[in-house]
Amino acid sequence: MFNGLKKLEYRGYDSWGIAFKEDSEIKIIKKAGRIEDFREKLPAKSHFAIGHTRWATHGSVTEENAHPHLSNNKNIAVIHNGIIENYAELKEFLIKNGYKFISQTDTEVIPNLIQYNMKNNNFEDAVKNTLKKLEGSFAIAAISRDSENIAAARRMSPMVLGISKDGFFISSDVPAFLEHTNQIISLDDNEMVIINDKIKIINFMDNREIKKEPETINLDFKESKKGKFQHYIIKEISEQEESIKRAIDQDPDFIKEIANQIENAFGVFFVACGTSYHACLSASYLFSKIAKKHINVVIASEFRNYRHFLTENTLVVAVSQSGETADVLDAVRAAKEKHSRIISIVNVPGSSLTKLSNEVIMMNAGQEVSVLSTKSYTSQLAILSLLAYASIGEFEKGIGLIKKAASYVDEIISKNLNKLENLAEMLKNKKDIFLIGRSLGFPTALEGALKIKEVSYIHAEGLAGGELKHGTLALVEKGVPVIVVSTDETKKDILNNALEIKARGGYIIGFNSENNDVYDYFIKIPLLENMEPIISIIPIQILAYYLAVKRGCDPDKPRNLAKSVTVK
Ligand code: F6R
Repeated sequence: MFNGLKKLEYRGYDSWGIAFKEDSEIKIIKKAGRIEDFREKLPAKSHFAIGHTRWATHGSVTEENAHPHLSNNKNIAVIHNGIIENYAELKEFLIKNGYKFISQTDTEVIPNLIQYNMKNNNFEDAVKNTLKKLEGSFAIAAISRDSENIAAARRMSPMVLGISKDGFFISSDVPAFLEHTNQIISLDDNEMVIINDKIKIINFMDNREIKKEPETINLDFKESKKGKFQHYIIKEISEQEESIKRAIDQDPDFIKEIANQIENAFGVFFVACGTSYHACLSASYLFSKIAKKHINVVIASEFRNYRHFLTENTLVVAVSQSGETADVLDAVRAAKEKHSRIISIVNVPGSSLTKLSNEVIMMNAGQEVSVLSTKSYTSQLAILSLLAYASIGEFEKGIGLIKKAASYVDEIISKNLNKLENLAEMLKNKKDIFLIGRSLGFPTALEGALKIKEVSYIHAEGLAGGELKHGTLALVEKGVPVIVVSTDETKKDILNNALEIKARGGYIIGFNSENNDVYDYFIKIPLLENMEPIISIIPIQILAYYLAVKRGCDPDKPRNLAKSVTVK
């Protein structure tokens, strides 16, 4: 259980908890904070348990709000991922029926509704009747003092069943049990499984029994180890030469076919969140520049609001490292409702997005453990750049340019490591850091700002160079650091922006192919035809890393975040 929960911490690490049966009672151990701090409190052995590691949605990070949650009579324990949208209504109903609540979570209604439904039903039927009443997204597992079964179910939140000769596992993702088995059954929406010495799967909405055969999961996506590195993030940053090359090691005919679909679609949307969104934005400049193709780039959580434009001739390219980001999955579902075609670019094999897509391009970045996307970002850029070149019949040229960019990774890291550490030392106590760029430098500025703020907690803001004078320049005063990401073709204009900042006392850090008088600090980026985004983000990733280390922040697990954001 401990190992399984540790492996799921990328889903959230605000608090953790387990429930197990002992002496015919349900026992709960739960704590705020990360599980490693409490290892000794876990029971040595139990063959019947549920456990959870939480990323808070409803209710703050406290022990009361940690899962599992117990029913009022303490007979039923439940763990839950997702959001119960009608929890307020259900809670009101239960309160009217005399139930009391001790947490602020939406989850606590579930064990209590099961208890309520057990008045006239056995445990399995009570769970089923409870599930029917829930609105929203959920993956839940429940145990009862009075039953030898574990009941688990899902709707719009991932859940997989592991089948080994020693027993069954149910989890929101396979890494939790991969050390025990690679035989899995994925549950689909509205499916519930009853587990004892065998399994029974039913659709809880219409009571249909469902037969499913186990599939074998690919073990290539193995757990990554830190090795000689102090943190995963710096290991993953350093791996980028290889991961970029792997990203473009694709079947040429397949890539050309997808590029063709992009070229010929009537409306193309690139859809993603966070870092993956920045990769899409960067690629849209490239498609415009080299393929003369307009791409609509939309943040996944906003995509549903564009559904009015979607038709069966629309192509949606969904980009996601995890393939589990709820906003991305929701966007894809919205597009599918309009019968649009879905292509995805995904890193995690077998993830939900792969199942919703017509075609999937695997990123092959390998497991990314740090919560911050680093190597997956450059892999996404590599694949999207290759698609842009392939769409104008220049697949080979694209491969050549991307390989050249990859070949600079080690050099840019080794030449600049000390300089970036020194820069971090100088910037570590700053309140704000601004990053500006134009054209392909603009998404790099956005991505650089995201890296810096999420890991060092310094406020960082990325802007298009031209936008600065429309408001944000008001924040520039003596000593405010501004990182200027310059590309060859935008050099003149971005240097003018740098001069405007310098005139107000700003401290200018240039990321450019050549030094300039306006720069107070300079990091050299090689000149690369259209591939600067792949390489210029790397020193900013390293700067963000050093800022985190010097400020005493955890560079792999920033506060409040999760690697895989499975709620909307
Ligand atoms: C930032 C970061 C996030 C993710 C975002 C989307 O370092 O990792 O912004 O990029 O949550 O995640 P995926 O790509 O898994 O859909």
